[in-house]
Amino acid sequence: MAYLSKVSMLRIDLLIHNAAQLLTLASAGPKRGAAMGELGIIENGAVAVKDGLVVLVGPTSEVRGQVTAAEELNASGKVVMPGFVDPHTHLIFAGERAADFEQRIKGATYMEIMAAGGGIVSTVRATRAASVEQLVKESRARLDRMLAHGTTTAEAKTGYGLDTENELKMLEAIRRLDTEHPVDLVPTFLGAHAVPSEYQGRADEYVALVVEETLPKVASSLIAHSSLPFCDVFCDEGAFDLEQSRRVLEAAQALSLGLKIHADEFKPLGGTRLAVELGAVSADHLVCTPEDEIELLARSNTIAVALPGTPFGLGHHEYTPARRIIDSGGALALATDLNPGTCWCESMQFIIALACRFMKMTPAEAIAAATINAAYAVGLGQRVGSLEVGKTADLLILNIPDYRHLPYRFGVNLVEEVIKSGRVVALT
Ligand code: NIG
Ligand code: FE
Repeated sequence: MAYLSKVSMLRIDLLIHNAAQLLTLASAGPKRGAAMGELGIIENGAVAVKDGLVVLVGPTSEVRGQVTAAEELNASGKVVMPGFVDPHTHLIFAGERAADFEQRIKGATYMEIMAAGGGIVSTVRATRAASVEQLVKESRARLDRMLAHGTTTAEAKTGYGLDTENELKMLEAIRRLDTEHPVDLVPTFLGAHAVPSEYQGRADEYVALVVEETLPKVASSLIAHSSLPFCDVFCDEGAFDLEQSRRVLEAAQALSLGLKIHADEFKPLGGTRLAVELGAVSADHLVCTPEDEIELLARSNTIAVALPGTPFGLGHHEYTPARRIIDSGGALALATDLNPGTCWCESMQFIIALACRFMKMTPAEAIAAATINAAYAVGLGQRVGSLEVGKTADLLILNIPDYRHLPYRFGVNLVEEVIKSGRVVALT
């Protein structure tokens, strides 16, 4: 009998067992409203991994009896959860903007610095001057830090090239990093991030260039390298108005790209309504979104992406009204917005800590927003973001006894091990 039961055991590559809390985040779709507070916790939990996928999840006593594992990790006293998905980053850029930061501390606003030739366009100058190798090198250091802090999938935007050649160069940097690095990258074209200096005062002409020349060229490159590439636009005062944003997004939709929008970061221009109307996968920032547009968004399939690192980074006191969105039944995700201007932060752990304090999200809601909902915000909800049979085995072991320690403690890295596609990744 003993022999018979042994041969029916499933041979697996890795067993993680005895987790004080295993957070499955199991969900048939993005978590909305009250469901965001449910983490699917298994006490004394285990997860079995084979060929890079999750093959069993359950209490250790049940999983253990069904498998023979090549490798085991004891997570006793610790939390095991899905890897973070960071669904909004400007990972690829050259240089830095510490001088902008200092000017803001002294009282200049983000938009004043931008209007005076600093801000995004100064990063455009540095990015245009950099070779693709240089861009990859500088961005790789950031991607290493993201992984070390538990991010296993991330979105990465262009938007510091602002001409066809340099936007394609940024996409090439994303493609190379996606290939060489454990973190999986989802590419987003953000040609309409700012009006480049050579088009100063001629925003409509720049939009025409994006729509007629750059978009068609990048779309073929994007579609060749990604199963779900996106197009984004910075719809705000000082960037692109509602009509210009619509032109870009409609052109992208016609080329089969998924849609995202930077909306209501500084001034409400109607970008959230536009996102819902066009069926965008996500609407991001949403700091000053009017009530009626919040209602529309909460009832739609468009995911709200809150970026609390950005007001924090800018020293502002207004944050995305996450409670209003969740309490109206919306699906909300969290992201870093990693960028050299407003928020140079690679850590989703810190974003979760901010979300709880300044947006009054519960620890459970913030964790759901940083995993399963973030996965849906980049179109990968069926593959990553939760620990369910058949999903990619991207998971974290945190050196904490209870998931609430994740936002409760801050400023240090609580991630002890990162497992990407079933492999323990060596962290730098
Ligand atoms: O999401 N708002 C526009 N884009 C970025 C900032 C980029 C930059 O300042 O370089 C953001 O905040
Ligand atoms: Fe952004």
